[in-house]
Amino acid sequence: MIACLPSPQNKTVGGVWATENLYPGLKTNNTYGTIDFSDFPMHHGFGIKPGQHVSGEAMHNYLQAYAQRSNILPRIDFETRVLAISRLDDRAGWNLRVRQGADERDLQTRKLIIATGVTNAPNRPSIEGASDFEAPILHSAELGLKSGLLTKDLSEKKTVAVLGGGKSAYDAVYLAACTGHQVEWIIRKSGKGPVWVPPRHTNIGPFKVLREVSSTCHHPLHVPHNAD
Ligand SMILES: Cc1cc2nc3c(=O)[nH]c(=O)nc-3n(C[C@H](O)[C@H](O)[C@H](O)COP(=O)(O)OP(=O)(O)OC[C@H]3O[C@@H](n4cnc5c(N)ncnc54)[C@H](O)[C@@H]3O)c2cc1C
Ligand SMILES: NC(=O)c1ccc[n+]([C@@H]2O[C@H](COP(=O)([O-])OP(=O)(O)OC[C@H]3O[C@@H](n4cnc5c(N)ncnc54)[C@H](OP(=O)(O)O)[C@@H]3O)[C@@H](O)[C@H]2O)c1
Repeated sequence: MIACLPSPQNKTVGGVWATENLYPGLKTNNTYGTIDFSDFPMHHGFGIKPGQHVSGEAMHNYLQAYAQRSNILPRIDFETRVLAISRLDDRAGWNLRVRQGADERDLQTRKLIIATGVTNAPNRPSIEGASDFEAPILHSAELGLKSGLLTKDLSEKKTVAVLGGGKSAYDAVYLAACTGHQVEWIIRKSGKGPVWVPPRHTNIGPFKVLREVSSTCHHPLHVPHNAD
């Protein structure tokens, strides 16, 4: 049994989908019925209808409800960072050095699952002249906490430059454009270019097929089952 599921900066469940990480307009790429656990289907109470993309808010509420139903909320140490992990002397478990606020302590556990994600440490490019740039510089990971910088009413049109061609860049461009900013979207030539964002539906003959549903829920039916 896991003794604790630490979360360094998060005050709420969900990691990417923690309340404080959600920015206006954030939706999952997944449509209703394709991102939920099979033992806890996302019901209509989360406000998403069949065919609609699951919003960030609904995703957070769903994960919160899942944690509540599974009684794991009391086991989570929020706002706690794991600083170091080492083997216990008897090699039967692990010691975790953790920091919560100003306090540091040790936790012991027999089994350890590391699920720290791949997107929660911002990759901040070093840009020449950035320290002298007078306007705010945000990483998309901060959009949840600082989206106000883009959403507040503008008395005059301001320019926002967005660097990158991934989904975070798409969302930042959309958010800034929708709030009346002039957007300069910068995608470097040397890289992969803009990511492809597929439409929700694929037309197969006369049928409009929900892409996400066909590739997740239906596809396994056509994959040979391995009895092992
Ligand atoms: C904005 C955004 C939107 C996304 N949308 C989609 C989507 O629509 N569909 C999809 O399938 N995927 C999406 N992804 C990918 C996303 O990574 C997954 O959906 C999913 O949230 C990953 O879950 P995870 O538990 O692996 O990691 P995370 O959600 O990142 O959770 C990792 C947790 O580990 C904690 N942690 C990290 N380091 C430490 C440490 N040293 N000590 C203690 N705790 C630590 C973090 O605080 C966090 O709580 C999106 C990612 C981003 C950034
Ligand atoms: N559900 C949603 O709506 C949603 C929203 C946001 C993110 N996500 C998910 O989160 C994950 C991460 O997405 P992401 O957009 O944050 O990151 P990403 O896919 O890694 O994209 C990062 C972008 O930044 C560019 N870049 C990186 N370093 C650069 C530098 N030094 N100079 C110029 N450009 C640089 C990259 O360009 P190069 O190609 O040149 O390297 C790339 O275009 C993805 O799985 C994505 O689907 C989902």
